[in-house]
Amino acid sequence: MHNTILITGGAGFIGSHVVRLFVKNYPHYQIINLDALTYAGNLENLKDIKDQPNYKFVKGDITDESFIDELFATYKFDGVIHLAAESHVDRSIMDPLAFIKTNVMGTAVLLNASRKYWKDNYEGKLFYHVSTDEVYGSLGEEGFFTEQTAYDPRSPYSASKASSDHFVMAYYHTYHLPAIISNCSNNYGSNHFPEKLIPLAIHNIKNNKPVPVYGKGENVRDWLFVEDHARAIDTIFHKGRVGETYNIGGFNEWKNIDLINLLCMIMDKKLQRAPGTSAQLITFVKDRAGHDLRYAIDATKLNKELGWEPSLQFEEGLEKTVEWYLANEEWLEHVTSGAYQDYYSDQYQKR
Ligand code: NAD
Ligand code: TYD
Repeated sequence: MHNTILITGGAGFIGSHVVRLFVKNYPHYQIINLDALTYAGNLENLKDIKDQPNYKFVKGDITDESFIDELFATYKFDGVIHLAAESHVDRSIMDPLAFIKTNVMGTAVLLNASRKYWKDNYEGKLFYHVSTDEVYGSLGEEGFFTEQTAYDPRSPYSASKASSDHFVMAYYHTYHLPAIISNCSNNYGSNHFPEKLIPLAIHNIKNNKPVPVYGKGENVRDWLFVEDHARAIDTIFHKGRVGETYNIGGFNEWKNIDLINLLCMIMDKKLQRAPGTSAQLITFVKDRAGHDLRYAIDATKLNKELGWEPSLQFEEGLEKTVEWYLANEEWLEHVTSGAYQDYYSDQYQKR
């Protein structure tokens, strides 16, 4: 079962952790990593496994229909784990159409190719779509997102992911394509591109630059260690029920300002600065447009049905993450050169 697996977006943050886990844990599977290597994709993330016999990288775009058709004809995939996406809310506010193209059209192209090449003979086949809790919208002070929560996306990013989720379920209901979706909360960990809150803050604290906190820092996110997300994807891919959605989260809510203060304390310790030094870099900046107040996932279904639970406490995971960034300066230098500088000045100079 699932012998040849296409993983899309495998050179990105979460995708690289998923590719590594599958290559290492399933030597009898053939793993094909398809990635367009946009600004967010980086093959350095996978240098430790690049020569493994069960791993192959293919550069290409999921929106390119004829290329995707050829890829399916060549490799005869048994399973697809689809992570490729434009993933950053702030970029989606600047350029929504890029998100519609990759996240909606790209997903539809992959669904169509799966249907075409599996030719309605779905034995042993699975299309696994990796999505986000942001499709559920924004919570008030109380309550959690469950699998029954109605979709209510508020940003161009979350609207594009919600749309892609709907297409996955439409293919399941209309064509009986065997499909599963998971919706996960905010991830953190190694290889995270430093335009997202945690790696951006680590990078700026290290370089004594202002740490931008949107609004009053009151927004709440539910943080999960990226390797725990990869383990959840492994569990759901192998044991999940077709046609179902699974929420993934860490039961780990933090106000942005509290998180940044904790990060500053860890950075002071690791950089041997006097306590309180890094926190002086915190700078409140103009809020994000349409900024969702709170996300919180109820992952009970995944826990009760498939036995998954997070492995790390947040403080421990955050400390491990800081250590990784401090030990991998070269990675950070590579990804923050060039186009990153342009994005950073567009996003923050005006604030
Ligand atoms: P990322 O931006 O780090 O990586 C995305 C990858 O997709 C990159 O390697 C990029 O090169 C590739 N890609 C982009 N457009 C492509 C295209 N047209 N064709 C082929 N490849 C393309 O994103 P991430 O944070 O690793 O997120 C991965 C997936 O998980 C996304 O679908 C995202 O919506 C979802 N997700 C992310 C989080 C999070 O906290 N980061 C949480 C829940 C769900
Ligand atoms: P982000 O990492 O962009 O993830 P998402 O928007 O998908 O949740 O942002 C996490 C939270 O941090 C979110 O509430 C926005 C906030 N934030 C800042 O306060 N400053 C920043 O520079 C960034 C990038 C995000």
